[in-house]
Amino acid sequence: MLKKTFSAALIALALATSAHAAGGMKAAGSHANLACTTCHTPTMQTMPTRDTCLTCHESYDKLAERTAKLTPNPHASHRGAQNCTSCHSMHAKPRFECNDCHTFNIKMKGE
Ligand code: HEC
Ligand code: HEC
Ligand code: HEC
Ligand code: HEC
Repeated sequence: MLKKTFSAALIALALATSAHAAGGMKAAGSHANLACTTCHTPTMQTMPTRDTCLTCHESYDKLAERTAKLTPNPHASHRGAQNCTSCHSMHAKPRFECNDCHTFNIKMKGE
């Protein structure tokens, strides 16, 4: 049983490594040195969610405190507690989703 679990883990690691080699799949910014499995399940069957991000970033309220200087505050709006990746992609450029409908003068780092 233990042996089976171990080889499953090895296969998952090989998959993750080949994805890395194929696409240069490094996470963005401060996450660049995190292991893939910090956010992804070992077999990559499901994608990370908002809750994955909030294990480290606590809550939308905490994030809203950090961006309190921005008007409007991107972390406190009528859009509610939406998915972080609507704006912060982990493997591609960020995109300020509010401006799909508005023309706020906010630019994201690296946009
Ligand atoms: C900080 C969290 C985080 C880390 C660390 C991370 N990812 Fe991701 N990954 C995501 C999120 C979130 C998505 C969903 C698409 C997006 O928003 O970028 C994703 C999507 C992907 C995808 C799907 C393709 C795509 O762009 O949609 C692959 C493949 C992937 N990650 C591979 C990896 C590999 C390999 C590593 C390790 C080298 C890794 N990821 C590390 C969060 C992470
Ligand atoms: C394992 C913990 C961890 C997870 C999981 C994690 N982060 Fe982070 N993140 C950090 C740390 C540490 C920093 C740097 C310090 C800070 O700004 O809080 C950071 C910084 C950031 C920053 C500021 C820009 C930068 O790169 O420094 C953004 C935006 C961010 N994270 C978004 C996300 C999103 C979106 C997810 C989910 C897909 C996520 N994080 C998941 C630990 C994490
Ligand atoms: C799908 C379209 C859509 C998206 C995306 C969207 N909004 Fe809105 N927003 C609206 C509509 C519709 C109204 C109400 C009409 C109005 O008063 O402009 C509104 C009103 C507002 C208002 C009050 C009126 C104003 O313009 O000052 C603020 C502030 C606001 N949105 C912030 C945000 C923020 C922050 C985001 C991103 C987190 C966002 N919106 C994303 C459609 C959207
Ligand atoms: C509607 C777009 C949007 C969504 C959704 C969003 N953010 Fe942000 N976030 C921003 C903007 C805009 C900034 C400030 C500009 C920048 O840092 O690029 C920011 C900044 C940050 C920062 C850096 C704060 C600092 O001190 O500079 C972190 C960390 C962060 N976001 C994490 C998250 C996490 C985690 C989620 C999901 C729970 C999330 N964000 C959802 C737009 C968004």
